[in-house]
Amino acid sequence: SSQPIITATCSAPVNIAVIKYWGKRDTKLILPTNDSLSVTLDQDHLRSVTTARADISFQKGDRLWLNGVEEEIGTEGRLRTCIEECRKVRKGMEAKDGSLAKISGLPLHICSENNFPTAAGLASSASGFAALVATLAALYGLKPTLNSSDLSKFARQGSGSACRSLFGGFVAWQSGTEASGDDSLAIEVAPREHWPTLQALICVVSDAKKGTPSTAGMQRTVATSPLLQHRIKDVVPARMEAMRKAIKDHDFDSFADLTMADSNNFHACALDTAPPIFYMNDVSRAIVQLVEEFNRASVAEGKGKRIAYTYDAGPNAVLYAEEKEMKTILAVIRHYFPNTDFDDTFNLLGAGA
Ligand code: PMV
Repeated sequence: SSQPIITATCSAPVNIAVIKYWGKRDTKLILPTNDSLSVTLDQDHLRSVTTARADISFQKGDRLWLNGVEEEIGTEGRLRTCIEECRKVRKGMEAKDGSLAKISGLPLHICSENNFPTAAGLASSASGFAALVATLAALYGLKPTLNSSDLSKFARQGSGSACRSLFGGFVAWQSGTEASGDDSLAIEVAPREHWPTLQALICVVSDAKKGTPSTAGMQRTVATSPLLQHRIKDVVPARMEAMRKAIKDHDFDSFADLTMADSNNFHACALDTAPPIFYMNDVSRAIVQLVEEFNRASVAEGKGKRIAYTYDAGPNAVLYAEEKEMKTILAVIRHYFPNTDFDDTFNLLGAGA
């Protein structure tokens, strides 16, 4: 057989949910308690780039470096699970097809870099685990045996939200019903080109590491919040359908209503947790008020809502808007947060609320 290509590099962008995932029904397989839907940001902004090489000379076994610092892969953590899921498929392919190079048994060296500060409270685990799985899939030649939804099941076991970063554009993670997790995967709702004028603006309110990590936070909310049970049963299913329709119709007004309502419902569930979890801070809330006021004035002028805010497990705001609105929105932010640094993301650190 020919000399195998044993190095691969892939990248994956961050995704920001508009219908949030919060709660696991299986913590080992990372199976969620509800469906979620997100927008994958464009490659050139916030992304992880991962390179993997399989080489017989790597005598210390599998190793991984994250932003230049070695991370312990361990024997049963999430990194180990993602690697072994990919390796297992390759092993099966090699067993079936004798002409395939035997690379599944070779030790791996993996390097992953984020083009944004990991400590900035921006979802780096989503892009990181998606890039890891995409890279190993390329290294092992898993496509076309496996498609992106199949691969999303591997990324899901690294970090739930990572499964959605295997696709660009508008992506749903269907929770599935099987105990095996076989139907808990990401699917494309619409490609990026469907609504290319929709843009995201990331307002970095704080770059401090978040107080309650998502895994611990979810566990506590599932265990103690009656509001979460209401969210799972009565809120999310209808909202998923409405969001699909809003995206299909390029209906920004409905998209904004649903996105903001879902962010608020998720943060209400965090507050309904015992003891309560506070992810948003005073600056986050000032941005909510600013957006609500901006939209109120816009609706009064007959133009409909023009900005949607959403917050993950931290205080940073992500604002969605049509491209043509961004100039105005930036002017408004500059006016109310005069100390803002403007770069790729909008740094509101130290800005007065
Ligand atoms: O995948 P995790 O464990 O980082 O959880 C992400 C949870 C939220 O970001 C708050 C919501 C979401 O759907 O991305």
